[in-house]
Order: sequence, then structure tokens, then C-alpha cells
Amino acid sequence: MTQTFSSTGHDSFVGTPRNRVDGPAKVTGLAKYAGEFTAADLAHGYVVSSAIARGRISAIDTAAAEAVPGVIKVLTHENRSRTAWLDYNYQDAVAPPGSPFRALYDDKIAFSGQPVALVVAEDFETARHAATLVKVAYEAEEPKTSADAVRAFAYDPPKKRAGIKPPPKPWGDADAAYDAAPIKLQNEYRLAVEHHNPMEPHASTVVYEGDGKYTVYDKVQGVSNSHNYLAAVFGLKKDDVRVLNPYLGGGFGSGLRPQYQLFLAMLAARDLERSVRVVLTRDQMWSFTYRPDAIQTVSLGSGEDGQLQALRHDAIGVTSHYEDYQEVVVNWSGVLYKCDNVALTYKIAQLDTASPGDMRAPGAVTGVFAIETAMDELAHEAGLDPIALRLRNFSEADATSEDKPFGSKALKACFTQGAERFGWAKRTPAPRSMREGHELVGWGMATGVWESMMQQSSAHAILSADGKLEVGNSTGDIGTGTYTILTQIAADTLGLPMEDVTTKLGDTRLPEAPVAGGSWTAASSGTAVMKACRNVGEQVFKLARAMEGSPLANVDFDRVSFANGRIAVAGDDSRSVALVDVLKAAGVETVEATESAGPDKDFASQYEAYTHSAVFVEVRVDEELGQIRLTRVVSAVAAGKILNPKTARSQILGGVVMGIGSALHEESMMDHRLGRFMNHNLGEYHVPANADIYDIDVIFVDEEDKANPLGVKGLGEIGIVGTAAAVANAVFHATGKRIRHLPITIDKVL
Ligand code: MOS
Repeated sequence: MTQTFSSTGHDSFVGTPRNRVDGPAKVTGLAKYAGEFTAADLAHGYVVSSAIARGRISAIDTAAAEAVPGVIKVLTHENRSRTAWLDYNYQDAVAPPGSPFRALYDDKIAFSGQPVALVVAEDFETARHAATLVKVAYEAEEPKTSADAVRAFAYDPPKKRAGIKPPPKPWGDADAAYDAAPIKLQNEYRLAVEHHNPMEPHASTVVYEGDGKYTVYDKVQGVSNSHNYLAAVFGLKKDDVRVLNPYLGGGFGSGLRPQYQLFLAMLAARDLERSVRVVLTRDQMWSFTYRPDAIQTVSLGSGEDGQLQALRHDAIGVTSHYEDYQEVVVNWSGVLYKCDNVALTYKIAQLDTASPGDMRAPGAVTGVFAIETAMDELAHEAGLDPIALRLRNFSEADATSEDKPFGSKALKACFTQGAERFGWAKRTPAPRSMREGHELVGWGMATGVWESMMQQSSAHAILSADGKLEVGNSTGDIGTGTYTILTQIAADTLGLPMEDVTTKLGDTRLPEAPVAGGSWTAASSGTAVMKACRNVGEQVFKLARAMEGSPLANVDFDRVSFANGRIAVAGDDSRSVALVDVLKAAGVETVEATESAGPDKDFASQYEAYTHSAVFVEVRVDEELGQIRLTRVVSAVAAGKILNPKTARSQILGGVVMGIGSALHEESMMDHRLGRFMNHNLGEYHVPANADIYDIDVIFVDEEDKANPLGVKGLGEIGIVGTAAAVANAVFHATGKRIRHLPITIDKVL
């Protein structure tokens, strides 16, 4: 049964721009989000939030709320049913060390906006109205909510957070070298507190299936994390709970940890033995996680030639009173630049706020803003082009990790190609030297860096007799394009058209995968999917070889290729067989496999892995009004193999826009007397709108990396890192004003 077959007929999907396979579902409204799932017996919960930031509840009166027709129950710490009491049970997969927040646990208030009651009613409007009738009396204490007020109490976190590298030990003598250096710069850098604000607010719908079983739709970046949390906190059997999140309206890190609406919805559903949905309001999105401020000082000492002789980067980050949140803030300085005398320190101090949380490139956004602004200042002092200064101090090995070489580092290509595309050579170095009409034109650049990570992840692949393939695991597609790249990888591995591949994600019935975060999903879940498909391919090959008169008789697996729905002997198109014919001949309905993939320990013992970027920015500043127009950005990115240039570009565009937000717009303003964020809505918390964004050009430079078989390094975060520094450096070039405290607003420019 030899058939003709042409291997040239098959294009590889990986590496080519592809539309999102989930695009049609998303734009037609078929895609459902956690707060949209329903049940016949659905009740609605509305959260009552604490009006104080620190103290205790002295009395809580729910009578008026309970008297409203349609109100089913008001849950408070006084009538809460029993849940686990050990901290351990509440510590989800990405929790920092400490005692995770427990809603309605006792009368203690740890932060403003803390949930103090849940009103459950037959409909949302009734719950919302009744929530206004809950009377809470407090014994308030004075909150401390500014980093400056607590900096004297900063400490070295006694327990390191898993996955977060502490600062390395100092090397050389940074202080002595700084004192002796011909050029010295020492300044403080600050970011504003930022909130994630995904389009979809946090929501959980718990559907009670009877008999102690629940189906939960949760807004989370990885259902396995919520699943494990619910089982541990409520003492449920994992088989009795299924958690799904097929689609997410963005996360940016706010959905890494199970949030309190999940706890409350499950608590109510368990108590009432009926289905309950809890959706947070936009202002409640300011009540559980944020990008923390850090007080940073960067001290650079160099020779007249700009060669670094001393580098100090000291940061005091903030956390809550109940957890030691930590992120990597200062290490980046030692990763990016070669210097013989380096000291990097990071301490944390406690505020009366909810725990901060990871927000897109956590720590790197913060620390790289400081070092990359400081390097621009040094370039100016030393009279060097900012790129030339960076090349002079370029690191070829990771000094923060025993000088391990980088697995790959195509940063020089980012500089070259980015500068070329931007037209950097036409820049005149002096500030205020590029005026056009009433606008001062400024060109600035900065480097971006992010860790390239991989996590243990599993995935399955199921090939059916009709030739259709299903792959998937429990990770979430947070809008990054995960459905699409996994479909591409699966289709290529088994030589099928993408239309014949269905990718399923966000369901705890699927093989377990970590949260979608850290830019590790493509590497982790991509490799797991590829391995599962290869396993299926090998099984099908064995069945094919066993067929009567098989065209693959006496051929080894490493000699065949998969294309156009067929297995063929490589280099001999005349010897091939269709996958569907193999399954038919073998009389099997499906061939399936589950595989897992994790970090390559051998690689990790020899190399460090980072993604890099060079960001170029043009600003135009109105000299009289101080208004900034950010008219051009070129972001040149080195992130290994690019699986899908279209969705990849989208990731960088989003990251750059968010970086522009950091630089110019985003600022959660705290009233420190009340310990409360004042601008907790999208009217007063500014994010870049369409009118703020002009041209953004994305370049992916070639980079080969061997950390994983796909050669991918991850893209979700690198686009934001360095962007704010590039903007601030452009503003300096335009105006001669060095602004070290973000966001750069008109009052600071004038
Ligand atoms: Mo990202 S802050 O790991 O979602």
C-alpha cells in the first residue's frame, strides 16, 4: 500500500506568524470567563471591605442586611464555618514565606479594603444593596503605609522566598573603589506603587454539584494552584473539586495566587450547599496585591573612560505584616555589567497593606529602571554614547552566579539592530539639542533583562482514529497566545494541519502544570506537549511498522518524519503511511500519552539563562506645557527561538505599553493618614490609552539557545523591562531634567 508523498508539501508552523486559535471565541463572546459561568441554584456574594487599615472589628451588625428580602446569609468572622488553621494549608505554590491572609478569620484588620463580610443573596443587586447595610465598628490604630516611614525597620528576610534569588555576596570593595573613582554618581530612584488592573476583575463561580462535589470557575493564572489551595484549606478531596479557567482577561501576576474571592465563594457554597459566585468590583482590585515601591540607591564609580570601578545597588522593598514578600530587585545590576567591586543589597520593611505581589517582571521593572537610568547618567558624565558605555562594561558571564557563562546573550545584536532601526546614529548627544518647533525632542535607550526559566510541567496528547489530535494541560492562557503556540508545536510534531489539533487548557482534569507566569509557559508546557506528541508518534510508528506489508518495515524511528498527516521514511517519499490508516489497521480508537518536562539540570549547572532587550525611545516635550508625547519606540529583543512572531510581537507591544504606563501614567496614590489607596478606579488611576501610543516597532534578533529542546526563552515579561528607563533617559535628553521618581508627570518636567 505504498502511496506517493511529498515531504516538501509540509510547512513548519513553529516560527511563522499565526492568528490566535482562540481569537474567534474571544471576539464573538463564546469564550466564557470565571464570572460568567452560571448554575440553576446560583447565589451571588458581595464583599464588604474594611474601612480602616489597621486595628480590629469591635462589633459587626448584620441584622439590617439580613432583613432585606432575597438575602440568604451574611458571612462574617463571627459565624464563619471551620477551615484549616495551619499556615501551611493556605500557602499556595507561589506564596512568599509567612502566614497567608485568611478572609473572615478573626477580628483583626491588616489592611484597608480587607474583606470583613460576604453578603449572599439571590441576585447581585440585592447583595450589593444589603452590603451597604452591614454596620461595622472598628477600633482603629494608626497605619504605616509609606516606605519612607518604615525604612529604618528594614530587615533581611529570614526565610528566602522559593524561586527568588537573594542578592549575591559582595565582591571586591565597592565602597573603597567608589571613594577612589574619578567619576562618582549616587542617587535615589523610586517607582510609584502600581496595580495590575487586568480587564477582567477577579471572580469565582463555585457550582455545587451535590454530594460534596464542586466545579469551580476561578480567575487564576493556573487552576492547579487554586485546586490544591481549596483542597488544603477546606479539607476537600481533590477528586471532589474540579477547577477551570478556560480563558482569562489578563493577569499580569494578579492571578498567580488564589485570591480571597475564591475562598469566600467556596466558604459560602459549602455552608449553603448551593452554587455561589463572587465578583470583585474594580475598586476592590486595589485590595489584595500591588507592585511594591522600593527605595533604591545606585552608586556608580568609574574611570574617565566610563569603565566601571565600583557598583552599589541598595534597595529596601516593602511587604505586609503577615508575609515576607520578596522579588529580585538589585541582582540585575551585577548580571548586566562587569565590575570588580560590587555590593548589592535588598531588605524589606513591613507596611499595613495587603501583601504586594508579582507584577509583570516583578523586581526587574524596579531594579532595571534604577541601574539603567544611572548608566545613562554615567554616559552623560563620561561623555560617552549610552550604547558605547554599555558595551564598555558588557558582561560575558553572570557575576551574580559564580561567573557562569550565559547560555546565550544576543544583547549586542539588540543594540546594533535596534539602533539601526531607530536611526540612533543621528542623535546629537547634548540635552535640549534636538528641538522641533515648540517641542524638545529626546532620544533615550536602555537595556532590558529577565530570567529565562522553566518549571516542571506535564501534558497529554490524544490522537483519534479520525486523525484529530487533542493536547493540553492545566496551565492558563493569560492572553499570551499559549493555546496557539501549543497547537503549532503539536501540529509540527505529528505533521498535522493546525485545524486538526485542539488544545485544551485551564482544567484540573488535564495533566498538572504550574501557573502561567514568570515567562516560563512556552518553555515548560511547550516542551511537555512536544514530548507527549513524540510519544504518540512513536506508538503510531510501532503500529505502522507492524502493519501487513508496511512501507516502514525494518525502519528505525529516528529515520521517519511526520508531515501531511503521514509517517514517511526521511528522504524516501515513496515509503509512507497515513496516521488514520495506521489506527484503522490496528483497530484502535485512540493513541495517547502523557509526558512531563522540567528544567535541564545539566544545562543549569553550566549556564545561566536570561532574555535581553534594547529599548529605544523618542519623546517630544512641549516646552511651555511640559506635556510628553512618546512618539517612537523600538524594542529589540533576544529571547531565543520565536515560536509565533505574531503573538510574540503582541507580547512585546503589551509589555512596552505597560512600561510606558510605569514611566508616565501609573501611580496608586495612598492617603497615608487612612492607609487607603485613593484613586482606586480606572478614571483616576491612569493607564496608557490609544491616544498615548504612537509607533512601537519590535525586532526579534536571532538567538540560539539550548536550555530546552524548543530553544525558547519566554517573552511575557521582557517587553516591559527597561522601557521606563529608556523613557526617562529620553526625557533627560529632551529637557536636561533628570527625573528619578516615576511616573514622569508634568509637574516634574516643568
Ligand atoms: Mo507574571 S508577574 O509571573 O504573571
